[in-house]
Amino acid sequence: MTAIIDDYLDRAVARALRGPARDRNPRVGCLLVDPAGEIVAEGHHAGAGTPHAEVAALAAAGPRARGTTAYVTLEPCHHHGRTGPCTHALLEAGVVRVVYAVPEPTERATGGAAWLQEQGVKAEHHPHAGSYALVADWARAAALGRPHVTWKIAGTLDGRVAAADGTSRWITSAEARMDAHQLRSQVDAIVVGIGTALADDPALSARDADGTELAGQPLRVVVGHRDLPAGSQLTRGPAPALHLRTHDPREVLRTLADHDVHTVLLEGGPTLAGAFWAAGCVDELLVYVAPVLLGAGSAAVPDLGITTIDDAARLRLVDLTRVGPDVRLRLVPTAATPDPEPASPSSPAHALVPASPIQED
Ligand SMILES: NC(=O)c1ccc[n+]([C@@H]2O[C@H](COP(=O)([O-])OP(=O)(O)OC[C@H]3O[C@@H](n4cnc5c(N)ncnc54)[C@H](OP(=O)(O)O)[C@@H]3O)[C@@H](O)[C@H]2O)c1
Repeated sequence: MTAIIDDYLDRAVARALRGPARDRNPRVGCLLVDPAGEIVAEGHHAGAGTPHAEVAALAAAGPRARGTTAYVTLEPCHHHGRTGPCTHALLEAGVVRVVYAVPEPTERATGGAAWLQEQGVKAEHHPHAGSYALVADWARAAALGRPHVTWKIAGTLDGRVAAADGTSRWITSAEARMDAHQLRSQVDAIVVGIGTALADDPALSARDADGTELAGQPLRVVVGHRDLPAGSQLTRGPAPALHLRTHDPREVLRTLADHDVHTVLLEGGPTLAGAFWAAGCVDELLVYVAPVLLGAGSAAVPDLGITTIDDAARLRLVDLTRVGPDVRLRLVPTAATPDPEPASPSSPAHALVPASPIQED
């Protein structure tokens, strides 16, 4: 029986993937299955302001929804947002059982399964890894109350990110840079300071080894008051970069949340990244270390105001991987913000206690 439920939820995940990859809301899929095991209808959420997956499936099923079981990747919502509660829609349509993979992690929309149970609709939680993966970024951002931030550093053994003359291309290997490009394609936004934009004129796109742009392109963001020169790469490309003329990391993240950003890759430079660190806005570090010495030049990390070893910022190593001739370390601050490991049944997204301005509707 468990395998059959997993099959239905796998299919619900496949359906959910038709929804937009970047949106205020998570992607959700729903299947309505009759007592003979036949799929009566499927639905997915096509983005904020459109019907939720359950409502889309119910609309496709019409009267055939009566007596079915709903297999849903996320617990049906139980609140009035831009659309009505899915719990009410399921009850009114005569659905007799609801199997959901991920408990609703936001306080605002939670309680759906318990309410359905009270109304006589059997509600079962069936943990399912694919469904957790679908909502992991959204749930992390909801738990943090802002986008999740990964600070990426590509540095030398002696912690430098540029030589004394300001040149920094390239410290790490082509393999490490390709690895970082893959990461870019998986986040919602890349953020750099205007100092980096002026020094390096980066494109901040996600590209493969021959320079072709990958399928997922993040929002490109530059932070700082100075202007970008006309013709710089950030003024060109598939979409112009967002230029935020502020020095306040929290303001940056609030603005990005308004742009439906759940995950941020902070690519420096040291001044901006140090400001994010000081504001408590770094959740994870991804550090590519090249077997290179410079002895002088910009330090990867600016002065953090630490004067004695007892006050050192300590990090926890969660992964160490060799990438070509370099190594990649994934670390989290020890007084951390939620664990960045992908949510799975053993580290469920709902364990991240939410208090969320990033809300589902
Ligand atoms: N190897 C790597 O991983 C890597 C990555 C990135 C950069 N780099 C290197 O780092 C160097 C640039 O570093 P950087 O530290 O000068 O550049 P940055 O951090 O990219 O930009 C600093 C500028 O951003 C603005 N800014 C935004 N928020 C700020 C805040 N809270 N506090 C202060 N200023 C803020 C300021 O400009 P306004 O006064 O105009 O607002 C400031 O001068 C370049 O050589 C680049 O190649 C290396």
